[in-house]
Amino acid sequence: MTIHFIGAGPGAPDLLTLRGRDLIASCPVCLYAGSLVPEQILEHCPEGARILNTAPLSLDEIIDEMRRAHTSGLDVARLHSGDLSVWSAMGEQLRRLRELAIPYTITPGVPSFAAAAATLGQELTLPGVAQSVVLTRTPGRASAMPSGETLANFARSGATLAIHLSIHNLAQVVETLAPFYGADCPAAIVWRASWPDERIIRGRLATLASQVDDSMQRTALILVGPVLESESFQESCLYSVGYDRRFRPQSADSPFAGTAPDHGNDDA
Ligand SMILES: C[S@@+](CC[C@H](N)C(=O)[O-])C[C@H]1O[C@@H](n2cnc3c(N)ncnc32)[C@H](O)[C@@H]1O
Repeated sequence: MTIHFIGAGPGAPDLLTLRGRDLIASCPVCLYAGSLVPEQILEHCPEGARILNTAPLSLDEIIDEMRRAHTSGLDVARLHSGDLSVWSAMGEQLRRLRELAIPYTITPGVPSFAAAAATLGQELTLPGVAQSVVLTRTPGRASAMPSGETLANFARSGATLAIHLSIHNLAQVVETLAPFYGADCPAAIVWRASWPDERIIRGRLATLASQVDDSMQRTALILVGPVLESESFQESCLYSVGYDRRFRPQSADSPFAGTAPDHGNDDA
C-alpha cells in the first residue's frame, strides 16, 4: 500500500489542493502534524478512518504506524502544513520508507510564504527591484544552520527575504539585516497567514521589534525587502505593447510570426 504525503496548506482549510482532498478521502488512515494542520481538513477523512496527531510521536513511532498500515493493506494520508518541500521533516520519513520498500507519493501544498504574500497583497519579485526570494530561517534549538547559510550572506544579495521559524529571534534578525538593507527598509510580519485570526504588521526594519507583541509567537513569517513598498518598479516586458514574443508577434518579419505558440518559460 502507499503512504501519500500531502501538503495541507498554510491554515485556511480551503487552501488544500483537490488532489490532496481526494487522497485524504481515499485513505483509511490519516497521520497529521497537529501543531499546524487545521482540524477542518480532517473532515475529508472517510468515516471510521484512524486519525492520529503525530505531534507527540517520535520518528520511530510514526514509521511504525506507517508500517502497520502497510502490512494491513491500508493506504495512509500523511499531512504536513504548507508545502512539503521546506521544513516538513518529510525527508527523513521518505528515507525510512525507502529502506522499508514502502511506496509513497508526494502532493504539494500552498507554502506559508505564498499565503503571507497574498495576505500582504504583494508580489515578491518586481522587475528592477528584486527577482529572487530567499526562503530561510535562523538557527533553532534543534537545528543549526550550514555555515554558508547565514542571514548576512543572503542579505548581501538584496533579494526579498522570507524568514521562517524566527519570530522569537526578531531582534537578532533586525540587527543582522539593517547594515545591508538599511534600517528604513520595508519589512512585514504575517502571523498565522490565512487563519481566521491572522495578523499583519507592516513597518521598517527599525520599527518591527516595537510593533510586534508577545501574542505573535511561533507561526509567523518575517518578510524583508524593498519590494514591500515599491511603486516605482518597471513593468515587465511580458505584456508591454511592442514587445515581440512568441504569443504576440509584432510584425510579419518577427522571428515568431507564423510559429505555433508552444509552452515557453514566460508566465502567460
Ligand atoms: C515547520 S515550518 C513549516 C513550513 C511549511 N512547510 C511551509 O510550506 O510553509 C513552520 C514555520 O513556517 C511558517 N509558517 C507556517 N504556516 C504559517 C502561516 N500560516 N503564517 C505565517 N507563517 C507560517 C512560520 O515561520 C513557522 O514557524
